[in-house]
Amino acid sequence: MTDFHEPQAIRITCAPGLVDYLRREVEELGYTIDSSRPTGLEITAGMHDAMRLNLFLRTAFNVLVLIDTFTCADPDELYGHVRALRWEEMISPDEYLSVVSSVNTPTINDWRFASLKVKDAIVDRVASVIGARPNSGPLRENFVVHLYWNGDDARLFLNTSGRKLADRNYRKMPHKAPMQETLAAGVILATGYDGSVPLVNPMCGSGTLAIEAALIASGRPPGLLRDNFGFMHRKGFDSDTWQSMRRIARKIRNKGTIAPIIATDIDAGAIRAARKNAETAGVHHMIRFDVCDFAETPIPPEKGIVVINPEYGERLGLLAELEKTYKRMGDFFKQRCPGWTGYIFTGNLELAKKVGLRASRRMEFFNAKIDCRLLKYELYEGTRRKED
Ligand SMILES: C[S@@+](CC[C@H](N)C(=O)[O-])C[C@H]1O[C@@H](n2cnc3c(N)ncnc32)[C@H](O)[C@@H]1O
Repeated sequence: MTDFHEPQAIRITCAPGLVDYLRREVEELGYTIDSSRPTGLEITAGMHDAMRLNLFLRTAFNVLVLIDTFTCADPDELYGHVRALRWEEMISPDEYLSVVSSVNTPTINDWRFASLKVKDAIVDRVASVIGARPNSGPLRENFVVHLYWNGDDARLFLNTSGRKLADRNYRKMPHKAPMQETLAAGVILATGYDGSVPLVNPMCGSGTLAIEAALIASGRPPGLLRDNFGFMHRKGFDSDTWQSMRRIARKIRNKGTIAPIIATDIDAGAIRAARKNAETAGVHHMIRFDVCDFAETPIPPEKGIVVINPEYGERLGLLAELEKTYKRMGDFFKQRCPGWTGYIFTGNLELAKKVGLRASRRMEFFNAKIDCRLLKYELYEGTRRKED
């Protein structure tokens, strides 16, 4: 079983489409990537590093630290292996345990059964050594264990994040069709935005893109917004080190001047939600909010980045109406934003054709299960419509 003072395999998970941005973030924090796949990557590091990653990463879902690796053929062997581990050193009977499994093995066809076996083994072990058993259930917020069981190979991880890191704690008012915070951060990172040029976000909805941009521009680690992480529920949690990491992180400030961030929406309710969310995130002073049609969005004189996440017909909006809106977005880019770099995030490539401008890049993302693109438009002075 893992000695958490020693470097271990750490698996950092993310949504499909975000791994390149995650890799860059992890490398910028000074870590070497051991391996990577479409929904995450692995490094070798210690428990303090896991805490630091939870504090700083913008595009990660979970930071998982390896507890043990073993071979097992069936659910009884799984129970035996898991029960043999010294859980009493990791989890107090006062804690709340949840288990998540990813299973691809012939002896079991329901991951919930594997989770139940792991949960039983842990609580039985703690009860036999300490005389009391931890509560358990589906709430993945406190002491969370992940099982990956592939063929005969099983790996058990402690989920040091608990709740997904996408849940930053600032979106008290989601409004309609909000973008997940980790995706919004990935989209902003994909534009190369660093706060030095203006960022304009028409159709801002609940403000996720503008808020993530403000967090990036100010250098504020998103983990400062949360007060609960999985690692806090492990016996031996080093609270002093965590507090000192937070103190240091709070002092991080982008030294340069941050250019204006402007977020608008036609719906006054969306702007109310976005303002409230920005306030909760502590970045409201950095964003100017307005209620207006996207085409009336104020554009600062200095050139910058304009990013729009319009409705795309899957969840909101009627297609014929949207076709007109997409065409108007092309007009807006051409007439109001010459010299800027424009981006449209959409899950509907047919609608995107109505923009009528040639995209210089198409970056692939997923919004939940929807295959999406971030389309980049270089809006040179005198940009012409392409022939349809
Ligand atoms: C897909 S949502 C944006 C979600 C946003 N990215 C978030 O994370 O909350 C699209 C937004 O466009 C707004 N909208 C639709 N038509 C508009 C228009 N003509 N002008 C401005 N905003 C518009 C809607 O009110 C909605 O809030």
